[in-house]
Amino acid sequence: MAGDDTEPGRRTFLAVAAAGGCVIAGAVGAPALGFVGAPAMAAGSGGLRFVVGKLDDLDVGVPKKFAIVGDQVDAWTRAPRRKLGSVWLERTADREVRALNVTCPHLGCAIDVVADGAGKPTGYNCPCHDSNFELSGKRGEGPSPRDMDPLPVEIAADGTLTVTFKRFRIGTESREEVG
Ligand code: FES
Repeated sequence: MAGDDTEPGRRTFLAVAAAGGCVIAGAVGAPALGFVGAPAMAAGSGGLRFVVGKLDDLDVGVPKKFAIVGDQVDAWTRAPRRKLGSVWLERTADREVRALNVTCPHLGCAIDVVADGAGKPTGYNCPCHDSNFELSGKRGEGPSPRDMDPLPVEIAADGTLTVTFKRFRIGTESREEVG
């Protein structure tokens, strides 16, 4: 289930939405452009919030991949609905969800879920250089210099899931957020 998760360039993102649930979540704008839409956060300073779906979209112990899609803009151009990245969401208990960035910390390939012979997910693997991770995101064998990158996820009273999407520098042991 590999996908194109190469990191977009450092630009500014507007009008965010998630492909999984296709619900508008918020917006971000560069200082020169001002806000577009409701609450704004700058990329690289806490991430962008995306509503990705509902808790009931997830089965316990079965990670599901959600694409993060939004409009990318700079001072002169606007590229609508560009893929910004992807997240794995795993429901770990009745009202607990774990979110992990799909991008491999080694060199940025898309990490896949690994399942046993019965189809039960057992962990993650990056197909590019064979880095393995536990379902928790903890690093196993392979060249990845750190665990998968966790992302904040909120569960609203009605089950709506909101992920704060962030991107991190690849190839480093320490986790450094990048814009
Ligand atoms: S990019 Fe994932 S192991 Fe190299």
